[in-house]
Amino acid sequence: MTDLSSRNPDWWRQAVIYQVYPRSFADADGDGLGDIRGVTERLTHLSTLGVDALWLSPFYPSELADGGYDVADHRDVDPRLGTLADFDAMVAEAHRLGLKVIVDIVPNHTSHRHLWFEEALRAGPGSPARERYVFRPGKGKHGELPPSDWQSVFGGSAWQRVPDGEWYLHLFAAEQPDLNWDHDEVRADFRTTLRFWADRGVDGFRVDVAHGLAKDLTEPLRDIGDLAATGEDALERVAPGTHPYWDRDEVHEIYRDWRKVFDAYSPSRTAVAEAWVPGPRTALYARPDELGQAFNFPYLQAPWDADELRRRIIDALAAARSAGASATWVLSNHDVIRHASRLVLPPDTDDNAWLLSGGRAPAVDERAGLRRARAATLLMLALPGSSYLYQGEELGLPEVADLPQAALQDPIWEQTGRTRKGRDGCRVPLPWTTDGPSYGFGAGGAWLPQPESFASYAVEAQAGAAGSTLELYRTALRLRRKLLEGERLTWAADTPPGVLHFARSQGWRCVTNLSDAPVPMPPGELLLASTPLEEPGAGVLPPDTTAWLGA
Ligand code: GLC
Repeated sequence: MTDLSSRNPDWWRQAVIYQVYPRSFADADGDGLGDIRGVTERLTHLSTLGVDALWLSPFYPSELADGGYDVADHRDVDPRLGTLADFDAMVAEAHRLGLKVIVDIVPNHTSHRHLWFEEALRAGPGSPARERYVFRPGKGKHGELPPSDWQSVFGGSAWQRVPDGEWYLHLFAAEQPDLNWDHDEVRADFRTTLRFWADRGVDGFRVDVAHGLAKDLTEPLRDIGDLAATGEDALERVAPGTHPYWDRDEVHEIYRDWRKVFDAYSPSRTAVAEAWVPGPRTALYARPDELGQAFNFPYLQAPWDADELRRRIIDALAAARSAGASATWVLSNHDVIRHASRLVLPPDTDDNAWLLSGGRAPAVDERAGLRRARAATLLMLALPGSSYLYQGEELGLPEVADLPQAALQDPIWEQTGRTRKGRDGCRVPLPWTTDGPSYGFGAGGAWLPQPESFASYAVEAQAGAAGSTLELYRTALRLRRKLLEGERLTWAADTPPGVLHFARSQGWRCVTNLSDAPVPMPPGELLLASTPLEEPGAGVLPPDTTAWLGA
């Protein structure tokens, strides 16, 4: 059996990690915003679920211009979410329950409320304080034009002008100025931050925008022309490593440096890169002398199609193997449409148009979505490597596509002149109970409105209920722990079209029917099925269903 005990330094290679978006998880003080004590109070939900670790999205001081990814102090807790003592208590309780703790590190940018940026604004052009960021004079006769045509991921120019006439770079919101990673002080400060959290007992780090830190700042700055702004599409169209600000080869030096910090601890601290780069480039971030793992976004973006999924699984396993890393899998996170809705959107859907229509055009069949989501989850959990779960997917939560415009908080909404609705629909606070002011999220309201349908998805409604999504996850994670050994996957021969079928160790197999007709169930003991089977012995695997089979 795979040793997932706390002493095993390789625990992360085949772990299940649960993402907590703290502001939407649980609110202990009733102010409508989730907090650290809320996480601590609900940790038994995670240990009962059977995950190995939790990853906390940012909980640092922040004015919430980007949901906490605008960090004003990387080494403190937002007073609205608690204190460092609350954080320490949370880590202690997690460890007592056998859960590892991973925190989010946001190195590409700070908040504009960070002391360094406030100092840079005061100090003026040409000052050393401005060197920590990317300040430049503008173009045009009076410097009235941005220094280059670089684009913000959230829409519009990536440059913002300050009152003294200079411009600063922000690849995300204007409240998130980019740091200058050529600066020794920036590098040293992040080493200090990593040690600060590692010394407090944190087991690993999720590295935000890992592909953005290194920029080509040689003058004159190179325009990107018609390359798309959002990284990945653009990266398919340039020679690898040559885009002026995404996925540059020099970025890897930074992670080789961080690895020395991680390895000074016993066990070594782990890390996972958030890098939206083309598949083969992803594994570079996961090399053993760098971060060790990288999110597999090509998998998350795959359509519900057997051939496409098989191809992406094969590619990811090969890339991870060649990098000496372990593969990762993810279906949902705080930046994308929840997979219980996404997987039934027709492949050519414009996601933003769907969100703007309030989830009505096209209409989504919630039951069909949940059925697919459950099949997709069992498939993912059978793959060798680590799976990253996003809070609420264990309840089968759909995307809340009809959030009223007045409720939207994602900076994307305003920064695009209210044309892109953004990511709030997957960040709606969790339902814990079937009634109460915010379905048990807290004693007060919730910072984003929860739909009435959340009552039926609540933990209280599903715990102990046969066939519920929560019980499916619990059973799957328990079986997974017992059955996983080694990282081998062997595809079965003679699989019908639309079906994925592979074996892991000890004759344990996973079969998914992605076609729209029933297919014969391969022989073997049925351990678990994502859809309750009407006639378990009938030898049939219904559509949109995954089964786990024993020898
Ligand atoms: C990452 C985060 C996202 C955030 C962005 C800027 O992509 O996942 O939520 O907006 O970085 O920090």
